[in-house]
Amino acid sequence: MHRSHTNGELRLTDVGKEVILSGWVQKSRDLGGMTFVDLRDRYGITQVVFNMDTNAELCTAARKLGREFVIKVNGNVIERSSKNAKMNTGDIEIIATSLEILNAAKTPPFTIEDESDGGDDLRMQWRFLDLRRNPLKNNLMLRHRISIEARKYLDSLSFLEIETPYLIKSTPEGARDFVVPSRMNPGQFYALPQSPQTFKQLLMVSGYDRYYQIVRCFRDEDLRADRQPEFTQIDCEMAFVEQEDILNTFEGMIRHLFKTVKNVDIAEVPRMLYSDAMHHYGSDKPDIRFEMKFQYLNDLMQNKGFNVFDSAEAVIGIVAPGCASYTRKQVDELTEWVKRPQIGAKGLVYCMCNEDGTFKSSVDKFYSQEDWKAIAEKAGAKAGDLILVLSGGLDSTRKQLNELRLLMGTRLGLRNPDNWAPLWVLDFPLLEWSEESGRWHAMHHPFTSPKPEHIALLDTDPGAVNANAYDFVLNGVEIGGGSIRIHDRDVQSRMFDLLGFSQEEAKAQFGFLLNAFEYGAPPHGGIAFGFDRLCSLFGGSEGIRDFIAFPKNNSGRDVMIDAPSAIADAQLEELSISVTND
Ligand code: AMO
Repeated sequence: MHRSHTNGELRLTDVGKEVILSGWVQKSRDLGGMTFVDLRDRYGITQVVFNMDTNAELCTAARKLGREFVIKVNGNVIERSSKNAKMNTGDIEIIATSLEILNAAKTPPFTIEDESDGGDDLRMQWRFLDLRRNPLKNNLMLRHRISIEARKYLDSLSFLEIETPYLIKSTPEGARDFVVPSRMNPGQFYALPQSPQTFKQLLMVSGYDRYYQIVRCFRDEDLRADRQPEFTQIDCEMAFVEQEDILNTFEGMIRHLFKTVKNVDIAEVPRMLYSDAMHHYGSDKPDIRFEMKFQYLNDLMQNKGFNVFDSAEAVIGIVAPGCASYTRKQVDELTEWVKRPQIGAKGLVYCMCNEDGTFKSSVDKFYSQEDWKAIAEKAGAKAGDLILVLSGGLDSTRKQLNELRLLMGTRLGLRNPDNWAPLWVLDFPLLEWSEESGRWHAMHHPFTSPKPEHIALLDTDPGAVNANAYDFVLNGVEIGGGSIRIHDRDVQSRMFDLLGFSQEEAKAQFGFLLNAFEYGAPPHGGIAFGFDRLCSLFGGSEGIRDFIAFPKNNSGRDVMIDAPSAIADAQLEELSISVTND
């Protein structure tokens, strides 16, 4: 027997028991005639004591234990004289009666402590050691809990979890596909799914009217803190529903997850139109934990001789409360920040609304005290506030000001991760124009239904067509997205048309779906939640990497197993891929 108890289990009520514990040596300390070993496993740490006076041989052996050795200890549970309230097992300790080294360990390249001395790269390379640390362990436990609760909720509503294939044909979700060569079909490739989108729609046609799957998706796209090339979705689809049904069902799921996992009660989730989100926050995923809404200032700030603003399509400001005391250095630093290439603003105009009712701006030459008074009034700025104004094209200015708003929100402590601000964003445009390719792209994906009342506009003004599409946003992060789907073959064909697919291309790529729509496709719609993102927010972080057991780094590499890597010429040949290796 390797263990009678785990290392997180023993309490005062166990005093007097003979136990067997196994685990890793967290650390050991020699104090006088005693050696104390902290024995760790997934469940916690238990202190084991070796006594030189009573068992010199055993104590000598214990003194040779290194960090991370795997050992088995027999012993007796006693009450500790100096208790440790920080540990679950801090009331007891084990007086060892035997010690067996199950496996020695080399000294790990970083400390296995809550705060490790290892840098990011090193810890990624030794991920299996990093996973022994509490912060990562807690993240994975949280992830498990959320997945179980999501399953419970969906099961209670008769959703079926159905697996869909990973070796498929391309499903466009806006990223590039990862492809897999087929040995048995020389020169042909599978694509890994960017999502199970088409399969879940086919399942609706098959009559499985409530489907879900906690499923891996693969997207070859630029990586960020909240993006991995392979990530997990809680992917859902329902038949015989309208948008309202989907919103209610999945708002219920989010509420259930908050309640069961975090014991947080979520009130009714507010809803905002996409156009309003863009207007007030310059983002389709506004962080509504704080106000700081955009103020459109063209009418008050143009035609005052300030050329930069006069020639701009948009002059938009925000009010940073209580920041009039910013020093010159601080506002200069903000100006530099918005001018960085990642943000791309040309400059920043600011105005301090002084406590004495006067104004001090960076463009005093063009704007009088009266002008600023009117601007401050319109923008809702009070004495003590700082007005920050950007200008330029409408879209780019909104984008830049969104970044500045988020920065100010963070600096002012308005983005507390324990404040929860969920939001539905509704009525996304169906299409967006791509200057690069000179054609329309689906804003969500090509299977999204236009609003019925907008179908006529498809031919005349495609850019004005809104979709029955919605996103779920939590604290400024896009957690989920979905739509009511097209279930009519002709509308789907027209959509492919608009997206620039020829009839032949549409048939070659999506013939199976168009075909299915001719065999009794019910009205349907769905949503997919980014499971990693949900876990990371629940865990108080915006980065998803540490909520995934074995993630990729920012270059899409797994540095532990060294993937991707070259493969042998023989393997390439077998796959009918021309050999380029020297
Ligand atoms: P969408 O593309 O919006 O919709 O994806 C759904 C959610 O998945 C998460 N997500 C990601 N998370 C981590 N890394 C990534 N690279 C990544 N990409 C997306 C986001 C996003 O909101 N088939 C549709 C859903 C539907 O229409 O039902 C889809 O995949 O949180």
